[in-house]
Amino acid sequence: MCGIVGFCGDKQAAPILLDGLSKLEYRGYDSAGLAVRDGSAPVQIVKAKGRLKELYAKTNGGQSLVGTCGIGHTRWATHGEPSETNAHPHASADGNVVAVHNGIIENYQELKEKLLHNGYTFYSQTDTEVAVKLIDYYYKKYEHTPTDALSHAMIRMRGSYALAVMFKEYPGEIYVARKDSPMIIGVQDGECYVASDVPAILKYTRKVYYIGNLEMARLANGEVTFYNVDEEVSEKPLTEIKWDAEAAEKAGFEHFMMKEIHEQPKAVRDTLNSVLVDGKLDMSAVGFSDEDIKKIDQICIVACGSAYHVGVAAQYVIEDLAQIPVRTELASEFRYRKPLLSKNELVIIVSQSGETADSLAALRLAKEKGIKTLGIVNVVGSSIAREADNVFYTLAGPEIAVATTKAYSTQLIAAYCLAIQFAIVRGTIDEAKYLELIQEMAQLPDKIQKIIEDKERIQWFAAKQVNAKDIFFIGRGLDYAVSLEGSLKMKEISYIHSEAYAAGELKHGTISLIEDGTLVIGVLTQSELYEKTVSNMVECRSRGAYLMGLTTYGNYNIEDTADFTVYIPKTDEHFMTSLAVIPLQLMGYYVSVSKGLDVDKPRNLAKSVTVE
Ligand code: F6R
Repeated sequence: MCGIVGFCGDKQAAPILLDGLSKLEYRGYDSAGLAVRDGSAPVQIVKAKGRLKELYAKTNGGQSLVGTCGIGHTRWATHGEPSETNAHPHASADGNVVAVHNGIIENYQELKEKLLHNGYTFYSQTDTEVAVKLIDYYYKKYEHTPTDALSHAMIRMRGSYALAVMFKEYPGEIYVARKDSPMIIGVQDGECYVASDVPAILKYTRKVYYIGNLEMARLANGEVTFYNVDEEVSEKPLTEIKWDAEAAEKAGFEHFMMKEIHEQPKAVRDTLNSVLVDGKLDMSAVGFSDEDIKKIDQICIVACGSAYHVGVAAQYVIEDLAQIPVRTELASEFRYRKPLLSKNELVIIVSQSGETADSLAALRLAKEKGIKTLGIVNVVGSSIAREADNVFYTLAGPEIAVATTKAYSTQLIAAYCLAIQFAIVRGTIDEAKYLELIQEMAQLPDKIQKIIEDKERIQWFAAKQVNAKDIFFIGRGLDYAVSLEGSLKMKEISYIHSEAYAAGELKHGTISLIEDGTLVIGVLTQSELYEKTVSNMVECRSRGAYLMGLTTYGNYNIEDTADFTVYIPKTDEHFMTSLAVIPLQLMGYYVSVSKGLDVDKPRNLAKSVTVE
């Protein structure tokens, strides 16, 4: 949802800003822009519609913009169509204030009217231009200081923002303000950086500050000063980023998505190892005592998109192993439907970015109600990680492709670990079962690796689906949960319409959509449900469907039914989602590549959905 960067120091800013934006393009890519300033000369602004390469060309790789202080932006349009006019940076008429923004100013109409009343005019349809002019208004009205102007504007603006601002009378300085949108600030050898996400500045520094909600900062001469909204100075600890810079690069793969698919064995192993001590689970870092676990009377898992699909799988696993009632809800629904939560309920928020607006709002709602919260989060220091009572960090490393793969896989591991730990503490499994489950989990990375090594067969099959109009994924129980994810992977990157159905639901309407040649992918990893799903596949075939089966080695009689079969290794059936998802990710990937699409940056999407 838009990416922002900023730099002030001794080097030329534009190439650094462009490089940072290239790492943030996953956040939005319909237009981009830079504002750079050479000493106290006027700010130069260049914007371009389309991908970052357009801006790159327009500025000759940044060479045409001279100056050591600047801000940049890559946009995912919210208010106003993608166009050069609506692209950021935005500026006040006299160039007094220039800013880039990520987020949504919800009351921008009301503020715009106030500003129109005060003689301001507007050239774009964006809420950001309103924010810029509001800051300008307060700057001129009161003390002519950036923090005073920003704090007045912050009090008036509702919604979310990460703002990086340059003021005409303050050359060489960048001011930032944040509420509910991600922002980090880096420092290194007399230089300051600001960005929406770590990969943008990882090449330059590992020393970062996390700016809090409703806080401001001044970046100048390699130093950062933090202020609260009352302009009182506050101190912040400097944190060291442990991510490997290489991890944010493609490392020889054609796409980030393929690289991240290949990183899954390691990501899964690292996440599991982070809570394994001497072959047993140790959840002390997550912060659950046995007493806490025994008290839980129900669990509500809240998330969006693929993270929600993790919740659907977790629901089956936790209920079955730990015998705790679990429901899984979409964060965008949960936050507005006045949910009834019991005093001893645990609300689990699953989020890779830790910044998804609806998931963050759901977390805050649960906390307001005094309910204990746990975040399953990948990005260290993100809003959800900071605000949840407890955090289970997944160790997927930076995930760049818009379509999640390795973060999803690590979230599943976190869910399994919780299920197993809750089960042993509550006495719903015995010690032998506990150890057996952990050993099974420990073998998942090698099994995932094996499936990835077999990818050519899936590539061959996927290449034949480029003209498909619809693809259906069906399964029961955990096979339904993974079908949801397989279907999302397919549609989001291949643009082929796809749906996932609980196989038993087909007869209640959906089967009328099956035509001659429609591809139906049946997922059959749960032995008790195998025959049932085979029957549903046969029903589809009778209506002309072309069938793919995804099942475990040994279930060779599926070939009597399916036209094409993918076999995966066996594991404990609670964990089958972790294996079944791999061929489905590969299917989506290869269909997208065969269609010549931009796998890593599918149209209309952004990686981190920080607006609701
Ligand atoms: C799909 C995908 C999204 C995210 C969703 C939640 O491939 O990546 O559906 O899962 O936007 O994002 P996080 O996990 O960052 O809260």
